[in-house]
Amino acid sequence: MNDRGRLRVMHVAGARPNFMKVAPLMAACRASGAIEPLLVHTGQHYDAAMSGVFFRELGIPEPDFDLGVGSGSHAAQTAAIMTSFERVLLERRPDAVLVVGDVNGTLACGLVAAKLGIPLAHVEAGLRSGDRGMPEEINRKLTDAVSDLLFCTEQAAVDNLAREGVDAGRVFLVGNPMVDTLLRHRERAASSPILETLGLAARPYAVLTLHRPSNVDEPAALGGILDAVDALQRELPVVWPLHPRCRAALERSGLDRRLPAMRGLRATCPLGYLDFVKLMGGARVVLTDSGGIQEETTVLRVPCLTLRENTERPVTVEAGTNRLVGCDPERIVIAFREAMAAPPTSARTPPGWDGRSADRIVSVLAAELPGCGRVLM
Ligand code: UD1
Repeated sequence: MNDRGRLRVMHVAGARPNFMKVAPLMAACRASGAIEPLLVHTGQHYDAAMSGVFFRELGIPEPDFDLGVGSGSHAAQTAAIMTSFERVLLERRPDAVLVVGDVNGTLACGLVAAKLGIPLAHVEAGLRSGDRGMPEEINRKLTDAVSDLLFCTEQAAVDNLAREGVDAGRVFLVGNPMVDTLLRHRERAASSPILETLGLAARPYAVLTLHRPSNVDEPAALGGILDAVDALQRELPVVWPLHPRCRAALERSGLDRRLPAMRGLRATCPLGYLDFVKLMGGARVVLTDSGGIQEETTVLRVPCLTLRENTERPVTVEAGTNRLVGCDPERIVIAFREAMAAPPTSARTPPGWDGRSADRIVSVLAAELPGCGRVLM
């Protein structure tokens, strides 16, 4: 507790998709008057385009602690976060730690909190792709295994946790805090000038994002996707904000030399949140391997072709606009043409994706945490 009798909950963020999740959670903590939110930035993503712009646009306060770990192998990054975060926890002794998503910092900080006996909440618990080859899948399973409070965005996640034997009393279906952020900032995003900047105002276009190691790290896989992109950009302008992992892979493999000949392709730097929401909302189709974009296109009702064989977010396929197409170039081109000819018409917004998830999470924290106290320090 702080000196005003409020619970102190330490939020952890470190990579781009975390920032849109912690923003509404921290705001809801402050608004509740019951919880003082603290913020730790692990520093996994550190530059202005991958981190700084999100703090500015989403009104996230300066982190109380910046671990500044930067890039590295999985082991090096995870270990560096753990070592630094342990020092922070010992110094600050929060009442709980809250981690979001499935990045390396989620697991690293979760593990440190659990070993110090500090109650741990995981937001986006229970999602499973069933693909152990994804580093995120390992992070998800292990984080859930050590969490005390597990907040789920969709029913499939609740079911996964039940199958894994997690006590139902610790599992809460609360909706999707990333959607809180999307709904909160959608109007502001509408005035982004990004379409004029790209020369696409009032013109149809597609959006592409790629960053999964399985799609970008192997030149054969990336080259195959580029074959598909080459075909698509002849039919419709394609905007491709390049993730740094993907840009580095293109340069390393020499595949970047194919881009200038693709006249319908607009490769850009990573975009800020408001520009990207505007871009996504106006697209005829989005092609992606991102988890968050599968969810955001569901809410925006934009056809999404997911360049993966599986998804940990099945509700986006069942209720939404998402279709799994894998990364075979021919399948991508066929799915693209089908999406252009007959966009999905029956999309529904999944239950609880209504802009109030963070409030639900904070209500649970305020009710459950005092009883969770088992601090060993
Ligand atoms: C990480 C997450 C992934 C998430 C993604 C969103 C893990 C295991 N993966 O993958 O789940 O979907 O973030 O972007 O945690 N780099 C920069 N600037 C930055 C940060 C990184 O240039 O601010 C470069 C570095 O050279 C780095 C590369 O991007 O090597 C990839 O970053 P990394 O942290 O390894 O993971 P991501 O691929 O971004």
